[in-house]
Amino acid sequence: MMGDKPQKSFLRFISFVKKDIKKNTGIFSFLNLKILDLGSGNGKNSIFLAKKGCDVLGFDFSQDAILLANKLKEESKKEIKIQGGKVDFINNAIDSKFNISSDTFDIALDVTSSNSLNQKGREIYLSETYRVLKKDGYFFARGLLKDGDKNAKYLLKNFHSKEYDTYTIPSFELSERVFSKNDLLKFYSSKFKILKFEKETHYTTYDNKKYKRNFWILYMKKI
Ligand SMILES: C[S@@+](CC[C@H](N)C(=O)[O-])C[C@H]1O[C@@H](n2cnc3c(N)ncnc32)[C@H](O)[C@@H]1O
Repeated sequence: MMGDKPQKSFLRFISFVKKDIKKNTGIFSFLNLKILDLGSGNGKNSIFLAKKGCDVLGFDFSQDAILLANKLKEESKKEIKIQGGKVDFINNAIDSKFNISSDTFDIALDVTSSNSLNQKGREIYLSETYRVLKKDGYFFARGLLKDGDKNAKYLLKNFHSKEYDTYTIPSFELSERVFSKNDLLKFYSSKFKILKFEKETHYTTYDNKKYKRNFWILYMKKI
């Protein structure tokens, strides 16, 4: 949950959605677009979109994250109001049934939030995200890529946990699932149409040390 500005990959996705909606319908407006931010963290992505006029709901199971997000919301309330946007953060897991009607959202976001889900939780997250998105709704997801990542290889070799391609970082008791491109496409395409796959490299910090990690990014659509 570093920084309070959205990452470039997320901003590129928003530009893509703008162009795609305009291409398909002839018009685009952020106003009234309904967004679900899965694992909203400090709220930076949700608030960015609320400042554009979107109606955003952030889910996070960490009370600390909800507090941080509400603090950022308070600091941004004038800009959100001027644009006619709305944002709420609620304490909700992303790996159990969402208490939301089907076909509600135009866009769902998982900006590096589902890495720590187990297999069963990941299936629920996928089917629930599919259910609450409207037809033609967009889904952005970002996570840890196994391919070409030396640190992933090291972690899998030394700290492998019970589930496939999953390790548990010792000092954090945190499990993470890394995906190969093939497994990733197989999993998400069971529900969604894949519009785009991207790979990026970033440094993540554990225990005050920086590690080079590879990430995957998917743009998807409910058809
Ligand atoms: C790496 S942070 C990313 C936060 C935000 N998406 C961003 O881009 O800044 C992952 C977030 O997902 C949340 N998270 C992880 N597992 C979750 C779960 N099962 N249910 C709800 N939130 C979860 C964490 O609490 C954390 O805030």
